[in-house]
Amino acid sequence: MTPIVSVRNLVRQFTLKGVLDGVDLDIRKGEFVALLGRSGSGKSTLLRALADLDREATGSGDIRVPERLSVVFQDARLLPWKRVLGNVMLGLDGVDAEVRARRALEEVELGGREASWPSELSGGEQQRVALARSLVREPDLLLADEPFGALDALTRIRMHGLLKRLSAWRHPAVLLVTHDVDEAIELADRAVVLDTGKILAEVNLGLPPRSDPMRDRLHAGLRARLLGLLGVGEGGSDDAKRREGSLQTPRETPPMIRPALSLVGLRLGKGEEYLG
Ligand SMILES: Nc1ncnc2c1ncn2[C@@H]1O[C@H](COP(=O)(O)OP(=O)(O)OP(=O)(O)O)[C@@H](O)[C@H]1O
Ligand SMILES: [Mg+2]
Repeated sequence: MTPIVSVRNLVRQFTLKGVLDGVDLDIRKGEFVALLGRSGSGKSTLLRALADLDREATGSGDIRVPERLSVVFQDARLLPWKRVLGNVMLGLDGVDAEVRARRALEEVELGGREASWPSELSGGEQQRVALARSLVREPDLLLADEPFGALDALTRIRMHGLLKRLSAWRHPAVLLVTHDVDEAIELADRAVVLDTGKILAEVNLGLPPRSDPMRDRLHAGLRARLLGLLGVGEGGSDDAKRREGSLQTPRETPPMIRPALSLVGLRLGKGEEYLG
């Protein structure tokens, strides 16, 4: 099957720094891919390149993405002067825009909060509005950069369930940037690990149903493998890279550092971005 996302030999650099050094990536229609990698490995740079939001970077390579794509970032950054419904309808066309926006809010379990102001919502609720705003556009590709990174553990688990349901129903292809190996295993069909500017490894994640007695053992095996590739736990990154046959200069950046600030945006059209 022809992939819905195709990236070939993608190179990106900032003024003083090369970040992506020949990335190749395919994503199939409806496939859920988790993008893992140490802090500073270029995950957000790759995601922004796919979303056509990387005006600060220069580079080369071939990117094919579907026209209908949505982006969700770590911070919902809703427009504070618009009510919840207005935020979801932002940039929506068509006579049925309001009906669709209301339905999307119901899908994220926020029916009844249409008239609330963003400041009246919890962090998790705001993030659900951001998800509704993305999904109401019925994207063929959802790009999500640590969308649950700022949420507490329980809200995260709820959001996982929600995203799983929504993606199973609407079936967009998803590229989810995450630091959380368990989140990747829980949600994704495949993990892609980025390191030193390249894809270090791709790992299929399909787990059997919860009722399967082998599930926990398979989960533990995948977890250990991914942590090893990220240089955390047994089999540090250098060992992992040797195993994958791509050892390069050791990284100085410690793993698992969360960004203090995230870039926030809503893709409205090609090259257009709302920055809150
Ligand atoms: N606008 C920019 N100007 C200069 N350098 C940048 C810019 N954006 C990112 N970089 C650098 O590019 C590298 C990759 O950044 P990127 O944000 O893609 O990493 P990341 O994998 O998303 O990290 P994190 O997990 O911490 O979010 C970093 O070293 C970063 O400092
Ligand atoms: Mg990032």
